Formats: sequence, C-alpha cells, structure tokens
Amino acid sequence: MKNAVYVKKPVLFLLFFIFCLPFYASETVGETLKFEAASSYGSFSEIELDVPYYPTPQPVVEEMLKLAEVQKGDVVYDLGCGDGRIVVTAAKKYGVRAYGVDLDPVRVQEARENATENGVEDLVTIERGDIFETDVSEASVVALYLYPSVNLKLKPTLLDQLKPGSRIVSHAFDMGDWEPEKEVTVWHNGAPYVIYLWRIP
Ligand SMILES: C[S@@+](CC[C@H](N)C(=O)[O-])C[C@H]1O[C@@H](n2cnc3c(N)ncnc32)[C@H](O)[C@@H]1O
Repeated sequence: MKNAVYVKKPVLFLLFFIFCLPFYASETVGETLKFEAASSYGSFSEIELDVPYYPTPQPVVEEMLKLAEVQKGDVVYDLGCGDGRIVVTAAKKYGVRAYGVDLDPVRVQEARENATENGVEDLVTIERGDIFETDVSEASVVALYLYPSVNLKLKPTLLDQLKPGSRIVSHAFDMGDWEPEKEVTVWHNGAPYVIYLWRIP
C-alpha cells in the first residue's frame, strides 16, 4: 500500500510500553508519597491546619511566660500547642496548671510525651482539638503563636470568654488595632523575636 506506515509488532509493543509506563509509575509513586506523608506528618495531607508547625525557641518561651507574669494559681493555655513546650515550661517553672490543644495528632503525642518526660503530666493536659472550638474561659493566661488573621479570628472569643485581668501573649503577631500593653523583642542566635502582651479589661 502506498504511503502506509508499516510498523512491526514488537515495535508496537515497545511503543505501547514507552507511552503507558509513566502513568503506571506516577500512580505507584503517588500512592507511596501519600502514605509516607501520612505516616511522617500525622496525616498532614488530610488535616487542614490554619498555621503550620513552627516551634517557639525556648528562650522566647521563657520570656513569653515572664511577660505574662505567670504565677501560682494561673492556668496557662496554648492554642496550637505544637510539642507542648509552652505549657510544659509553665508547669515546670511556675508549678501552674496548663492546657495545650492542637489539631495535629503527631503534635498531641509529642506534647504528651514532653509533659511526661519532664514530670509534669499531672499539671499538663493536652488535647486534640480545634482552637476555634476551644473554650478558654478557665484560662488566666493564653499563649499564641499563630498568624495575624488567626489571632484576629480568635479575638472575639478571647474577649468574650476570658476573665478581666487575664493575659494574652503572642509570639510574632499582633491583634490589628488592639494596642498591646507591652511589646518586647528577644534576641536569640542573632535574630529578633517580638512578643506582645494584652490584658483583658
Ligand atoms: C506555629 S506552631 C506553634 C506551636 C507552639 N505554640 C509553639 O509556640 O512552639 C502552630 C501550631 O498550631 C497548630 N494548629 C494549626 N491550626 C490549628 C487549629 N485550627 N486548631 C488547633 N491547632 C492548630 C499546628 O499544628 C501547630 O502545632
């Protein structure tokens, strides 16, 4: 036949393989990556966090608690508690009850282990939950290391539920037009870390 392209069977087989192999490969790799993310990051792909995990350096944690004037009788909350360093430090250093909440189950497990390793599991409660559904009425100090928009979304709840005189300390982010009572810069490893303090009127 004139102009007809004649391709031998083995060549057709080879071409079929070359075109189809990438699809099979991507399916398999996709499955593997999904599984790895789920096992390493606590189903990160399935949980929608409002803020990613980034821990506050320990010297900044100490300064936040100092700025909030934490003392015996206080109840310290950390909304989005990560590995629990703020609540564990509050319990260990000031002997206060402290409560941490986080949506990521890996962080919840880390925070509970952190409390146990530091011998403050009787004072520290860690729960898996959403910061926007957390009742903060028991807190006298609330610690935040979130995003500006998240701080602003929490502001009405904090003003509504916290008792007069309760303190809010935030690492890095302010509360829009709500002027802080104090703003402190902590230098750590040559970098500035800003923390803010508000008091419920
Ligand atoms: C920047 S980290 C701060 C961790 C800790 N507070 C600290 O200062 O070291 C923010 C934390 O908030 C948690 N988070 C984000 N969105 C959340 C939500 N809607 N409810 C509860 N936790 C959330 C993340 O899993 C993460 O551990």
